[in-house]
This record gives sequence, C-alpha cells and structure tokens, in this order.
Amino acid sequence: MSQRRKIRVGIFAGGASPERPISLASGHQIAESLPQDRYEVVLFDPLALMANNRRLGAEQRAQARAIADRSGRLEALSERDRRELPAKLRAEIEAATSALRPATAAIVPATEDAPIDVAFIGLHGPYGEDGTLQGMLELIGIPYVGSGVLASALAMDKVMAKTVLAAAGLDVPRGAVVTRTGYGRDPVAAARAAQEIGYPVVVKPVGQGSSFGVTMVARPDQLGAALAEALRYDQRALVEERLAGTELTVGVIGRDDDLQALPVIEVVTKHDFFDYQAKYDPAITEEICPARVSDDVARRAQELALAAHRVIGCRAISRTDMILAGDRMPVLEVNTIPGLTANSLVPKAARVAGIAFGELLERLIGWALADAADAEGHGSR
Ligand SMILES: Nc1ncnc2c1ncn2[C@@H]1O[C@H](COP(=O)(O)OP(=O)(O)OP(=O)(O)O)[C@@H](O)[C@H]1O
Ligand SMILES: [Mg+2]
Repeated sequence: MSQRRKIRVGIFAGGASPERPISLASGHQIAESLPQDRYEVVLFDPLALMANNRRLGAEQRAQARAIADRSGRLEALSERDRRELPAKLRAEIEAATSALRPATAAIVPATEDAPIDVAFIGLHGPYGEDGTLQGMLELIGIPYVGSGVLASALAMDKVMAKTVLAAAGLDVPRGAVVTRTGYGRDPVAAARAAQEIGYPVVVKPVGQGSSFGVTMVARPDQLGAALAEALRYDQRALVEERLAGTELTVGVIGRDDDLQALPVIEVVTKHDFFDYQAKYDPAITEEICPARVSDDVARRAQELALAAHRVIGCRAISRTDMILAGDRMPVLEVNTIPGLTANSLVPKAARVAGIAFGELLERLIGWALADAADAEGHGSR
C-alpha cells in the first residue's frame, strides 16, 4: 500500500508586531506538537517581506532585510522580555528564531522546494492577526488556518468590533475614541470624554494584543500619560469604563457552524490587571478552568463567546474576553488568533474538554484543508 505523503505546513511566526516573541513561542510549540509522521513543518517569518515597509522603524527594517537575506542574524530579546518572560518561554523563542526561514520562500517557493499545502498563522497583532497576511494568502491561493480577511480585520479593530457586537445586542464597555491628531489639537476633549465615562477608566490602543499600551487610569491627572502610551502603538486609543469583576475568557472552535464553546477560564492575577507580564508568567496569574462560577453563568459566557464568534464572522477558532461584573457580562474583545503555546488559554481549555494540544492543531489544519478543497475551482472566496 502506498503511504500518503506528509502534509506540508508553513507555520507563520515572528512578524512585525510587538507580540513577535510570543508568536515565536507559539510557532515553536506548534511545530513541536504536530506529529512528524504526518506533517512536514517549516517556520516562516513574514517580517522578511517587510524590509521596505516604511511604517516600521529603521531597526526593524534592517532586521527584516537580514531575515530576507538569510544572513541569520539572531535577534536579541528586548530588555523587557528578558525581565518579564519566564525562562522556558525565552528558550522557545530562541529555538524558533534559529529555525526561521523568510516567508518569501513560502510565497514564491524555489523550484527545488515543494509548495506548502497550508499556512498555520501563529501571529498575533498587526500584520498577522489583522487580515493583512490573510489577504495576501487569499491572493496567492494558499489555504490558511483560521479567520478570513474581514473577521480578522474587524476583531483587531476594537472600535469596529465593539460597534458590530453592540449592534447585535451584545453588551460592551462604554467608551470613547481618541485619535493622535485629535488629541494633539484638543486634549481637553479627551479629558471631558473620560470624565463623562466616569473614573476609573481603561486606556488602550485600538489595535494591539498582549495588553501592549493598556493602562488603568484611576484619576484625571493620569490620563495624559496613559493616552500617550496607547498612542505610541496606534493612531487611535480607546478610553473605556473600567469594569470591576471576574475576568472570564472562552474559546470557540469548530468548522463552519458546527461550533463548540470550550470550558470557561477564569483569570486571577496578582497584578492590578491582566498585563503583559501577568499573561505569560504562571507564578503571577492563575488561569482556572473550569471557572468557579455557577453553571448558569458558565453557560451564559459560552453562549456569549459563540455569539461573538458568529457576529464577527470568525472561522475555526476564536477566544472572547469578558468581565462578569454584577449582572453584566460585557465583551472586552474577540481574538481571532489566540495564544497557541501548549499552556495558552485556548489549548488549556481544550485540554479540559478532552482535546490535546496536538489534536487541536490537527483539527484546525484539517478544517482549513477541507475548506480549501470545497472552494476549489469556484474563483471567488
Ligand atoms: N474595560 C475594561 N475594564 C476592566 N479591565 C479591562 C478593560 N479593558 C481591558 N481590561 C484589562 O486589560 C486586559 C487587556 O485588555 P484587552 O483584552 O482589551 O487587550 P489585548 O491587549 O487585546 O489583550 P489580548 O492579549 O487578550 O489580545 C484585560 O485582560 C483586562 O484585564
Ligand atoms: Mg484580551
């Protein structure tokens, strides 16, 4: 009997967002967890495509060039990452870095290289989770895991996501948008907006992840610094009411409409909120699954995550963050590419539901390939 050839998976990891190190850790673990007898994996870094993207700083463009040239320059972790990320995660980031190949090799494979069958996008934040890479893969015709262009772009833009979720009747935190130019012209308007929302407020960039640029603001005199920080990451910042309560997050997986909400996770952190360091250090944060809430509340959270997944139009996987505050359960955001290390939230919840990490990855790849087979020859998406 002839043996079926292995599925060639291009794992896209790295990229240009501040979540690059986390993405590398995800990419490394995805590569390690796919059974070698059935999958052939290569790690591709899309940063290699971005050497001429002038939105990036000079240093990042130089790094992009080095990756594109395969001059193999190993990057150093930032001082913050050396300080805040646990040793195991740092080791995984280094392992991924040394295995990275430029994404150009996936986009235009050399004649001796077989093209990949499917892209597994393990990128978080701008230029990876936001629909840009998805658009490029659509154009080229490479099947990929997860949400398409529209849902990816929608979920990454917290203002648009909240607008769409609210239109569908879901509760979201009250808030206001402050743009970089608007704030420069009229800082008093921002102060007034925050006052109207009512302190304490949360200030965050509209399109980031891993809590980059997020600050809790207790008093009006702290607002300026928080806005400056959020506006370093984005042209627009969101000022939101700070909800006090229990932080819950719910993963949803499934093909088309055959969706499964995973067990609810409760986030309990020693930090003031679920900040960057708290997200990746188990000594700081407990992620309790199933959450210590009543069955009714758990069901409500799962229904909410399913509704958010559908309303945004996500595909295959999502994770919806929410806060249980009294009778309310507002949705903070929907992540289309949630963290995918074995210890990340969705893989953890999947395990509680009896789905091992490797099995989860295989399902995601299987759905992407099945969708691609269904779409073959149909032209439009
Ligand atoms: N309106 C709010 N009220 C209370 N806490 C909030 C609010 N918004 C954000 N937070 C806190 O800040 C954290 C990060 O916020 P949010 O999920 O919006 O940002 P993110 O950077 O996109 O996160 P992720 O890593 O999940 O993509 C939340 O997990 C929560 O702890
Ligand atoms: Mg979040």
